[in-house]
Amino acid sequence: MKIIYSLLALSILLCACKDVSIPPPVKSDDKDKLTMDSFDEAFKPNKGRDVWQRPGEILDLLGDIKGKTIADIGAGTGFFSFRLLFRDAKVIAVDIDPQMIEIMNDFKLNLDEIHKNNLTTRLALPNDPKVIQDEAEIFIIINTIGYIQNRRSYLQKLVNLLPENGKIMIVDFKRKSLPIAASPIENRVPLFELENDFKNIGLTITESNDNMLDYQYILIGEK
Ligand SMILES: C[S@@+](CC[C@H](N)C(=O)[O-])C[C@H]1O[C@@H](n2cnc3c(N)ncnc32)[C@H](O)[C@@H]1O
Repeated sequence: MKIIYSLLALSILLCACKDVSIPPPVKSDDKDKLTMDSFDEAFKPNKGRDVWQRPGEILDLLGDIKGKTIADIGAGTGFFSFRLLFRDAKVIAVDIDPQMIEIMNDFKLNLDEIHKNNLTTRLALPNDPKVIQDEAEIFIIINTIGYIQNRRSYLQKLVNLLPENGKIMIVDFKRKSLPIAASPIENRVPLFELENDFKNIGLTITESNDNMLDYQYILIGEK
């Protein structure tokens, strides 16, 4: 299992999540079940991310998510999707890149039955998350908002798909030079622009946090 995960990690090292193509994932028939530790061990490029991004504290801001359905837009290799899953949420891991879907599906094979049933991976289109009305109570968009074209209309689409009191959370990099690998600065959306977007699409901002993390802001809006 360790060798398989190491090969996978090597391929991920060549990939900045979107821009670089990676070889197809290695399938595992190992019977060991996936844990959050083994997932993190496989994705060495994410090492250190727990320190600067503090995903646990980010997810705490969503409150009790047990049993809730959360769509992770631009899920990538599933850094947040699997964390949501291990908090007993139901997760729709959405991505436009078939290789990301394949990687997550490969990890899904090693989940126990309960978590496996709680994870749906979904190949989407750039302008269509492929989530149906009221299917998700929360959308999270982590390290991804700058890649979404026609951002405002996309966000409006998400709001329309949410039930009343549904939420959108966006976490992304601040527009300043950072000592870590991050998206190009010109690709980053400033927090105030997203705050304006949220107001314009009918979301009430419940959290706009520029202080908790050194490198990132966190924005949450409620319908
Ligand atoms: C930088 S990665 C972030 C992955 C993950 N959220 C994380 O925090 O590790 C951005 C991901 O967004 C995906 N993506 C880009 N545009 C998208 C869109 N319009 N809809 C869904 N996914 C998209 C890319 O394929 C890529 O996997």
